[in-house]
Amino acid sequence: MSNASFIVVANRLPVDSVVDDEGNRTWRRSPGGLVTALEPVLRANQGTWIGWAGQTGAAPEPFEADGITLLPIELSADEIARYYEGFSNASIWPLYHDAVQPRVFRRSWWKSYYEVNTRFAEVCAAEAAPGAVVWIQDYQLQLVPAMLRERRPDLRIGFFLHIPFPPVELFMQLPHRMEILKGLLGADLVGFQRPLAAQNFLALTRHLLGYRPRGHYVTVDDRLVRADAFPISIDTAAYEEVANTERARHRAKEIRAELGEPDTVILGVDRLDYTKGIETRLKAFRELLEDGRFRVPKTVMVQVATPSRERVEQYRVLRDKVEREVGRINGEFGQVGLPAVHYLHQSFDRYELAALYQAADVMAVTPIRDGMNLVAKEYVASQIENHGALVLSEFAGAAGDLRQAFLVNPHDLTDLKDGFVTAAESSPDDKMKRMRAMRRYLRKHDVSRWARSFLTALGVPERSAAYNPGSPPAADAAEGT
Ligand code: ADP
Ligand code: G6P
Repeated sequence: MSNASFIVVANRLPVDSVVDDEGNRTWRRSPGGLVTALEPVLRANQGTWIGWAGQTGAAPEPFEADGITLLPIELSADEIARYYEGFSNASIWPLYHDAVQPRVFRRSWWKSYYEVNTRFAEVCAAEAAPGAVVWIQDYQLQLVPAMLRERRPDLRIGFFLHIPFPPVELFMQLPHRMEILKGLLGADLVGFQRPLAAQNFLALTRHLLGYRPRGHYVTVDDRLVRADAFPISIDTAAYEEVANTERARHRAKEIRAELGEPDTVILGVDRLDYTKGIETRLKAFRELLEDGRFRVPKTVMVQVATPSRERVEQYRVLRDKVEREVGRINGEFGQVGLPAVHYLHQSFDRYELAALYQAADVMAVTPIRDGMNLVAKEYVASQIENHGALVLSEFAGAAGDLRQAFLVNPHDLTDLKDGFVTAAESSPDDKMKRMRAMRRYLRKHDVSRWARSFLTALGVPERSAAYNPGSPPAADAAEGT
């Protein structure tokens, strides 16, 4: 048995392995909010991270990076197709996001999901020191808590779901729903982004298993399981620091010049995912141009869309639709050398992202459904001069935290369009007041506070060897969630 006292288990490692034609391996940052949030937590804790390195076949040897021990898990091509692209991303992902796209179920996918979850649990059971703290992440690994408890009852097991948890009637559609619910109940603490998700989960334990939840707790085989909300956040200080560099500031000015010095730059930054509402956002922008409420080149849009899950059918269809809509808008409203929508299907480093955030007058975060949405928080943290306006969907978890954003209902095109215009036309004073309040909130509610409150609720002593995030302010340390 190994000696890891603090372990994070997630489908993905924070870095993806990329092997070129000559067999040379390089590492690239993995996509998505889970990695953005957890990476600084693990770095501060010198923990172990168990996950997939993003490639097919034999896993690379364990290695260390930035004080984190990385333990790669192997996935075969068949498992990637069935466990990852299939059950995780074509069954669970759409269902948990309010079925915004039809979910697909195939019986062979479940077998693979079960087998891969077993592998993660076995590797973790072999790696954990006696009494270690294990923190399992997200919808790909919902069976791991119970599988791990069976193998290692001495461990303290937490689970955090980064995406929404659906209401009972939607969850009930899921084949193997009982196994999944029992899998999650293997944890001592099950964390969600929003209180409603925790309530959905507790209601389900009553509905499916006949348990009697009391407050945030439910008793399972004489064991108390807590389900509660822990809204995730970002390393606010790190985003402020990058935004404050000469490199990012200079680049922000350059970007505005490259865009033709418009009055209003509207920015979208998303993984190319159908939950993010990119299509509707583009449609709203097109209609605003048609109505003459926005005009090119005074107002332009920049849409950054990180490639994501490109082998899953629904993602391929989405990419086609988005690119067709961009082409249509530019065909109708662009001018020579001045497109209406600048579309970038690429990933950028943090300086370029910080520069884009600073160059944007209006940030469009309009998901149809989203667990949290860290892009919204990153934008706010990067507004070091307190200008800029955030248009934020009510259906993003972030709307519960960033109350001073221009909140919109992305299902209502009129409301979405009005939201863009109101944000673009609001006075500098109004924008500044809103931005200041949101930045204040994020400075206090950053990712280390999130990790601290989760681990404290899990019963990990603040100064234990397993978890030592630095010295929290006295008031914070005393606060629960
Ligand atoms: P999700 O987890 O669903 O992808 P989030 O908004 O919570 O959504 O997190 C997305 C993360 O990915 C953020 O940290 C954001 O900065 C990062 N990101 C999104 N687009 C890009 C991009 N084009 N280049 C680099 N990072 C990106
Ligand atoms: C979201 C999910 C994460 C996932 C990320 C990127 O943030 O909550 O679990 O890692 O998207 O998606 P991918 O499928 O590329 O890992």
